Amino acid sequence: MSDIKQVVVLLSGNGSNLQALLDQQDQSSYQIIGVISNRPNAYGLERARQHRIAAIPLDHKVFSSREAFDRRLQEEVERFDPDLIVLAGYMRILSPDFVHRFSDRLINIHPSLLPSYRGLDTYRRVLEDHQPAHGTTVHYVTTELDSGAHIIQAELTVSPADNEESLRQRVQAMEHRIYPKAVDLIARGRITLKEHKVWFDNRPLNPEGYLVKEDNLEIP
Ligand code: GRF
Repeated sequence: MSDIKQVVVLLSGNGSNLQALLDQQDQSSYQIIGVISNRPNAYGLERARQHRIAAIPLDHKVFSSREAFDRRLQEEVERFDPDLIVLAGYMRILSPDFVHRFSDRLINIHPSLLPSYRGLDTYRRVLEDHQPAHGTTVHYVTTELDSGAHIIQAELTVSPADNEESLRQRVQAMEHRIYPKAVDLIARGRITLKEHKVWFDNRPLNPEGYLVKEDNLEIP
């Protein structure tokens, strides 16, 4: 049996996090075997094709309900029989049946220091609230939006010069470092989920997850 864990990525858009995962996979214990997008023209699908990875457009607009779409999505994912399902800018809420089917092997990255700023528009809301810090969180997915156990959290200090675009760029630069690392740690069995808690090298993590800062994103 191969030690390389098989990963399916779900996305809806640009796919810069998919790109970071692809760029790191030769040095990692995971392999991306399929990419599925609910938006047929997502650039992320093109990135997958360029790497000769199965790229599946699955337009949610042609399905009669969220449940019908998610049932089909589940079938498409199951065909790959993946070890891990990685949400990378997947902009649809998943139905409870889908989450339960793949729970404990379904992860997401959300651009905020969860549990603060769940949902959309985190950059604008953080700036409007004059928050001193912002960041991004890799977490397991549960049926409640942006609420599962944290794996890694990366934090930055908001500068007075920041605007939405600069914050987005700084946060995404951190995402591109920590998301491939998180997937690799799970693939190597160093990160595990036991009874809704995340363990790292056989020690339970604090609720915020493994915490890193923008000036030092190294994780041993
Ligand atoms: C990322 O910033 C991620 O935090 C959020 O969606 C964005 C996707 O960006 N969930 P990309 O498509 O990976 O460039």
